[in-house]
Amino acid sequence: MGPETIRDILAIDGPAGAGKSTVARRVAEMLGFAFLDTGAMYRAATWNAMHRGIDMDNGDALAEATRAMVLDMRESQQGQTVIVDGRDITQAIRTPDVTQRIAKLDHNAAVRAYLVELQRAFGARGRTVAEGRDMGTVVFPYARCKVYLDASLDERARRRAREYESKGIAFDADALSGDIRARDEKDMTRAIAPLRRADDAVLVDTSAMTSEEVIDTIVALARQRW
Ligand code: DC
Repeated sequence: MGPETIRDILAIDGPAGAGKSTVARRVAEMLGFAFLDTGAMYRAATWNAMHRGIDMDNGDALAEATRAMVLDMRESQQGQTVIVDGRDITQAIRTPDVTQRIAKLDHNAAVRAYLVELQRAFGARGRTVAEGRDMGTVVFPYARCKVYLDASLDERARRRAREYESKGIAFDADALSGDIRARDEKDMTRAIAPLRRADDAVLVDTSAMTSEEVIDTIVALARQRW
């Protein structure tokens, strides 16, 4: 499916910890749009490769394993549920173990091409809030509304720490900000689909904003476009 026909998209991009997930899900609810968490897809592909015991340095095997997984993402009362081959991996994909290995998959052209295909098929079904790193630049370049969420490194590290704490996931507090910086570096400098603000995306710096304020800002922007 060519991207030029898929326009009913509110694209939300930005670095790790800018608050995208919470905000994007809520915005989708308020607008009555479907919600597509593409980070969860890269996480699911990573978990799947680990679970299948794939050599993480074998790019072809990673792509093959990704195409072989049956990925099902559903909205439920508790938020989004991620299921691979019938197994609920909603919690498992958020662990630091998975996070540390994502770059092996998200730098892989064949893995990306396949996941982009799934993302476009989802977006083509109707109005969608699509959240990720390359929504406005690569996957949905014709999106009706594009937002780029950013926040200072310190604030993003604080948010990630709170998220891990609330989920009872063990983490190394001292390493957190370095980890996020390293992930920024990887996301922004990779050869394929690097994280960057699309020329026509509205920049929202969320460092000093509450989630509610960010949500209201994006909903207001969207209502001008639809
Ligand atoms: O948003 P997140 O932390 O769940 O994303 C997980 C990883 O997936 C992140 O390190 C970058 C990658 N990603 C990507 O390359 N492209 C996307 N559209 C979404 C996420």
